[in-house]
Amino acid sequence: MCNKSLVSITDYSKEDILRILHLTKKFDEQPNRRLLEGKICATLFFEPSTRTRLSFETAVNRLGGRIIGFSDAATTSSSKGETLKDTILMVNNYADIIIMRHHLEGAARYASEVSSIPIINAGDGANQHPTQTMLDMYSIFKTQGTLDNLTITIVGDLKYGRTVHSLIIGMSHFNPTFLFVAPEELSLPDPYKAFCDSHNIKYEEHTDFSPEVINKADIIYMTRVQRERFTDLMEYEKVKNIYILRKDMLEGTKDNLKILHPLPRVNEIQQDVDDSPKAYYFEQAKNGMFTREAVICDALGIEVE
Ligand code: CP
Repeated sequence: MCNKSLVSITDYSKEDILRILHLTKKFDEQPNRRLLEGKICATLFFEPSTRTRLSFETAVNRLGGRIIGFSDAATTSSSKGETLKDTILMVNNYADIIIMRHHLEGAARYASEVSSIPIINAGDGANQHPTQTMLDMYSIFKTQGTLDNLTITIVGDLKYGRTVHSLIIGMSHFNPTFLFVAPEELSLPDPYKAFCDSHNIKYEEHTDFSPEVINKADIIYMTRVQRERFTDLMEYEKVKNIYILRKDMLEGTKDNLKILHPLPRVNEIQQDVDDSPKAYYFEQAKNGMFTREAVICDALGIEVE
């Protein structure tokens, strides 16, 4: 395995997280630096993406590197039956780093075990999305001035939401209080509750998206109910419109509240919220570019002045 891979947010210690956030701030101040000249970055997207792939590719372009890859696996030899292992070994011949999204949980870990170059997990099924977590944490730090002792209300699909799973682990170093809001069908899986218990992290579970959980929050982290994760579409139909954030629901909220969403959204944040100074999801997505510049440089061992 290549040690500099980032497969899960658990690959980063608290010190690693703080170091990446510090690097991200440098790229936020100056995103254009010729640090990847002569490097080739492969983006292998076996699953659809807008933000993650484009922000990674923009990051590489801003750093003077080159991109190879695909955004539709149907155009590759995996559609002829080539294994993931063979695909990774081939790309090892061509690139210096692989950024991969895959629909199978554990695919990124497996890729990192067969690869001699770093693998960056850009999302594996319902499991993990560690670079999303780093940009979420950067967004939290940038808007709150701290990561410590915050109340974070996480709403929606807590069962399949890989960004939620990664965020819980990433924030666990900073004494958060989590208010989890989900219908029973999409509640947080037991291993993540056990993780909170074993790390003395305070959390409450709610099924109502009530003023109580909205008005206590420093951060509201909205998520989409992900149609693509359901095997039974009747189940999806039952829960797809369950929580919708409207502008009038922000009236009694804290002054410092920011609303985050990993995006894409469907209808869980009404468009009239976009004009609120508390809406931060588009800036959050922009922060992804700076975060990914930091993650790539860190994985390749490139010093940033
Ligand atoms: N947040 C996120 O992963 O978005 P994309 O699916 O568009 O990459």
